[in-house]
Amino acid sequence: MKIILLGAPGSGKGTMAQRLTNDLQVPQISTGDIFRKNLKEETPLGLQVKDIMARGELVPDEITIEIVKNRLREDDCKNGYILDGFPRSLIQAEALDTFELIDCAVNLDVDEEAIVKRLSGRRFCPDCNGTFHVSSLENETLCPSCGGKLIIRADDSEETVRERLRVYYKTTFPLIEYYQKQGKLLTVDGNGGIEEVYARILSVLKK
Ligand code: AP5
Ligand code: MG
Repeated sequence: MKIILLGAPGSGKGTMAQRLTNDLQVPQISTGDIFRKNLKEETPLGLQVKDIMARGELVPDEITIEIVKNRLREDDCKNGYILDGFPRSLIQAEALDTFELIDCAVNLDVDEEAIVKRLSGRRFCPDCNGTFHVSSLENETLCPSCGGKLIIRADDSEETVRERLRVYYKTTFPLIEYYQKQGKLLTVDGNGGIEEVYARILSVLKK
């Protein structure tokens, strides 16, 4: 299955994509993770996107589209994938339609209050891309999956979260209507616990 996960920052796209990846045995393609990896390795792309990401703005469409286009050509994407964080603008969605036929776009609908709570307690593992919340960690600095050192994402500061939400409503929110018009939109209530939300996703996908 070729699935897009839509949703505001902190809505749980990464968390749900990791579960779907395991259960459906298809890769998770997270543009945010790709950019963060480049940032960590200080590649030319990483240096180019560093300030943009720190400000909570979007990386230019041309760059992002090219990266995804190349990634989806790789062998492991033949049987499907989970797109996490792409597309994020109408230009990206229209571009994707020219080179891929996706099955559905799952929109995680979460209250803003819950989003702020989730992002302010998020911990990220740069080694395995694992995403956690302090409320479920015994040790706030140790990755429970791979033993790596957990960090607070640079763009999870209060000011940057505010900007990411602003960018989301202006540029990404219109994609809900875009996929609704294509008859591909599946809306899921993303409020509630992780297992509860994941069960809802599996249930809409089965239909
Ligand atoms: P990206 O990394 O994609 O960030 P985002 O969209 O802002 O989304 P997040 O990763 O913050 O949230 P999420 O929905 O994955 O939630 P998560 O599962 O972590 O993008 C970062 C930046 O890269 C962008 O700002 C931009 O600059 C650039 N970029 C990326 N893609 C781009 C594109 N296509 N075009 C241009 N620029 C692009 O969950 C959040 C927290 O909540 C975690 O702590 C988790 O444990 C917890 N949690 C999750 N679900 C639940 C639940 N049900 N109950 C309780 N807690 C939960
Ligand atoms: Mg994410």
